[in-house]
Amino acid sequence: MARLASIVESSDDAMIGKDLTGTIVSWNRGAEAIYGYAAEEAVGRSINLLVPPERLDEEQQILARIGAGQRIQHFDTVRVRKGGTPIDVSLTISPVWEGGRIVGASHVARDISERKRLEAGNARLAAIVESSEDAIISKDLSGIVETWNSGAERVYGYAAAEAAGRSISFLLPAARAHEEREILARVAHGERVQHFETQRLRKDGTLIDVSVTISPIRDTTGQIVGASHVARDITERRAFEEQMRQTQRLESVGLLAGGIAHDFNNLLTGIIGNASLIGEELPPQGRSQEFLAGLMMAAKRAAELTAQLLAYSGRGRFVVGPVHLSELISEIHVLVRASVSRNITIRLDLADHLPPVHADRNQLHQLLMNLVLNGAEAIGEDRAGCVTVRTGAEHLDQSYIRAALSNKELASGEYVWVEVRDDGCGMDEATRARIFDPFFTTKFMGRGLGLAAALGIVQGHNGAIRVSSTPGYGSTFKVFLPAGAMARRDPPRHRGTVLVVDDEEMVRQVARVALESCGYTVLLASDGREGVEMVETAPSIGLVILDITMPIMGGEEALRRMRALHPDLPIVLSSGYSEAEARRRFEAHAIAGFLQKPYTSAAIRKKVEKVLVMAAAGTVSR
Ligand SMILES: Nc1ncnc2c1ncn2[C@@H]1O[C@H](COP(=O)(O)OP(=O)(O)O)[C@@H](O)[C@H]1O
Ligand SMILES: [Mg+2]
Repeated sequence: MARLASIVESSDDAMIGKDLTGTIVSWNRGAEAIYGYAAEEAVGRSINLLVPPERLDEEQQILARIGAGQRIQHFDTVRVRKGGTPIDVSLTISPVWEGGRIVGASHVARDISERKRLEAGNARLAAIVESSEDAIISKDLSGIVETWNSGAERVYGYAAAEAAGRSISFLLPAARAHEEREILARVAHGERVQHFETQRLRKDGTLIDVSVTISPIRDTTGQIVGASHVARDITERRAFEEQMRQTQRLESVGLLAGGIAHDFNNLLTGIIGNASLIGEELPPQGRSQEFLAGLMMAAKRAAELTAQLLAYSGRGRFVVGPVHLSELISEIHVLVRASVSRNITIRLDLADHLPPVHADRNQLHQLLMNLVLNGAEAIGEDRAGCVTVRTGAEHLDQSYIRAALSNKELASGEYVWVEVRDDGCGMDEATRARIFDPFFTTKFMGRGLGLAAALGIVQGHNGAIRVSSTPGYGSTFKVFLPAGAMARRDPPRHRGTVLVVDDEEMVRQVARVALESCGYTVLLASDGREGVEMVETAPSIGLVILDITMPIMGGEEALRRMRALHPDLPIVLSSGYSEAEARRRFEAHAIAGFLQKPYTSAAIRKKVEKVLVMAAAGTVSR
């Protein structure tokens, strides 16, 4: 009995005796701790002392049931402590028998506020898990799925009911069948696998990129009993990164290729120029002429390749004007015909009255040649085949551009298209994905520059290419170019005639292209005497750009003579000397401006514009 009393006394649970009217008759230390009243405060008072007012009838019912000999077990409810704070308790109330009669009740209360808090915390955690975008899964150490949140349903496509109880290996693509076993082995040793990027299979069979973190789950004793699997779908991020990498790679290749091609072009000009000079010196007959012809042939091939590289790098676009695609194609038809073998029919299906495109004619020529030659090469030389070139115009809206074209930044509007279709070998998806890469080729003697150049040209013209192909049946390349819009926006209206006098061919060409493309008529002279003659014979000249150092007749003398012919003609000096130095030398004859060499096309345009505006306003001093 004493033993029992000491057990009661030492229990953490509140153990309270009460009679059938509800009066407290005994009160242990656990009750003091839970309810806050000392035994002498509580004994003799009604049990209602502990009952919140809104639950008073609860105690009535309990007493009624006790009176009827029933027991109430693990009844979770709320009671109040001394001072009025509510407390969550679990009650077990049993009748106390004495001499065959029920005389009262024992009231055992356990403080469950801690448990309640945990439960609330768990409910919140569960809500967080449920609302997560990430797949959150738990599995046992053999990989059997235990829980599966709605994020997992979204990421993997399986409902929780389908996944639970199965081995997680149903998510593994064949090539990664071993992965899960290895991961679980590491987890079983207490390791965590963090941000592991891999691939998993969705229910619909698609492969997705995921980043997975897998951690051990421990029970209260610290034993590892399972693994949590948190996975994020990174398929889109991966695709984006891949595209960025690709773009950057192509850009750097383009810069490099363009830089080299540019220098190379200049060197080739030297090679071809000197070779033709040698040809003039050599006797017209003889083997040396043959060798020279071979040299020229090789140099021309090199020049063609260089043109492809320049086009690819976007550096090849120079002379822009309205081009009628159908006309261009019928013009180059003969050339195309001559470049493909006899077994190939070239069929043209050209639309009349297409709007012009604002383009570099030479580049479009190059583009068409590249596409047609590829079509012919896809057919080969062993069988008859057909390459069809069609043109047309079409309005493109954003939904089409987004769905069908690689260049999604295209503006909607009118486009002129040219389509080159062949019935050759076609290509598989893997080839198709790489055809625009520079140096990608599947041909024994291929260079892999044709389509890279084509893409460079099309993009340089704000257009797009659409490719479709079926292995064994042929390919279709459809090029879209904006119709006339650019021409309308920037009409090269005539703005006057400019004479450029310079002994350097390169300088003359840059000046010509820069000025012609914005509407000037340009005359060129390669020394002072030629320049003076032109001023004399071409009255339309509105401005002269004059180099200082030239053979035959230098700038100083030329300037004096031009002044004598036309005192009002604005003359801009151009030199590698500094402006101050040049002005000092030319003090005697006023000049309209100075253009520092070497100059860019923008610099010469700006200078010409400025001087002409000043001349029109009559502010040019003589
Ligand atoms: N019309 C086509 N039919 C089938 N494959 C093509 C076609 N056009 C291009 N290709 C593929 O694209 C690759 C790259 O073409 P391109 O850049 O012109 O270089 P090249 O012609 O020197 O190989 C070709 O090697 C070929 O595999
Ligand atoms: Mg090619």
